[in-house]
Order: sequence, then structure tokens, then C-alpha cells
Amino acid sequence: MPSKRSDSAKPAASTARTRSTSSSRTTGNKSAGNGNGRARKAVSSQPWLHQQGTEVQAFGTVRLFPLGLSFDARMYSCERLNHVLANTQILYALYKKHHWLMRGTTFYQLHLLLDKHAGEQLELVDMIAERVQTLGGVAVGDPRQVAEITTIPRPPDGAEEVPAMLSRLLEAHETILIEAHDAAARTADMGDDGTNDLLVSDVIRTGEMQAWFLAEHLVDTPLVHA
Ligand SMILES: [Fe+2]
Repeated sequence: MPSKRSDSAKPAASTARTRSTSSSRTTGNKSAGNGNGRARKAVSSQPWLHQQGTEVQAFGTVRLFPLGLSFDARMYSCERLNHVLANTQILYALYKKHHWLMRGTTFYQLHLLLDKHAGEQLELVDMIAERVQTLGGVAVGDPRQVAEITTIPRPPDGAEEVPAMLSRLLEAHETILIEAHDAAARTADMGDDGTNDLLVSDVIRTGEMQAWFLAEHLVDTPLVHA
């Protein structure tokens, strides 16, 4: 049916405007009284689609929140946290990649372990991002921006040998741990105890534990004969 096809091809926003107008027409008056003396606005259930707006806060800036922390402390913490956040998002993605590409006799064990670690890293991603927002900043979220910020080397697109996969994950962990230790000390010096706590209690503790579990898989130990 050609007429139906041309109707559905209409831009949704103009459809919304049309509906709003026809609704005003059916109610007669846009600000008609509702019986209690107050004017009633015409109501439409049509969403306003395809909206475009201007950026309301630039990346790398902080809003003023009453947290008892200086502007400099909040700016500094957001910058350091966004760096840790970008690397943590990459570590999460590496865990999923290696979870999928795992192979060999220890496939099942490592397939499950790497997925568990990925889940824990994903929780950290959320916690770090929300710390940036709590401080008034803008958390890095788009993976294309993450790729510009991260300092973790890009792996080959294909599959590596299993020990190389594990080794790559360990190196990514150490990159994050080194920067988290430094950022924790410096943010504490600037009075940002909350960021220090997140970095120490969550990022560092989780990273150290996961690194231990990975490293034990790289010990060349006999399986049957001592
Ligand atoms: Fe899976």
C-alpha cells in the first residue's frame, strides 16, 4: 500500500507536532480550564524523537558540588580516575576476549575464571565512573574515547597462545596497579579520602587478588609425577 508506506516514512518529530496540534484541536482550547480554576495543558503521549542538543558539560571539567573538597582536588582526582577508568574498561574487554578465545586442556577452568574476573572488573568500572560523577566530573564512557586514553597495549585481533593471553592480562593488571598506587597516595595528600579509599579498597585489592589467580596458572608444575 503506497499511502501507508509514505505515512510511516514521515519524520517522527513532525508526527508528534501533528498529533499535538490535532489534540489541541479536539480539546478545543490548549489552556482550557479543568474545573478547579487552573489551566490545563494539552497532553500527548507521543515521544519527541530525534532530538539534538548542545554539550552541557565538557570532558575534563568539574561542577561545584558541596563536598568539602577543593576545586583542585576534585579536578585532579577526576583526571586520575578517568585514566584508571579507561584502563579498567580495557582490562574488562581483554578478560572477555580471552574468556571467549580460551582453548586447550584447561579451557573450562580458565573460561570460567576469566569471566568471573571480567564481572568484577565491570563492577569496578561502574564504581570508578560514579566516583568521577560524584566529584562533579565527566566519566569517560565511549569506547572510542577509552581507546584514545588507555596505556594498555592493543592485543592482536586474533587468538594468542594461552600463556601469552594470561601474561597479557597480568601486565594490564600491573599497569593499573602502578597507577592506582600513585593516584591513591596523591589524592589522599590532596584530602580526597573517598577516592583514596576506592582506589585502595576496590581497585588495588581486586587487582592484586586477580593477578594472584592468574599468576598461579603460569607456574610450570608437574600434573602427575613429583
Ligand atoms: Fe560467556
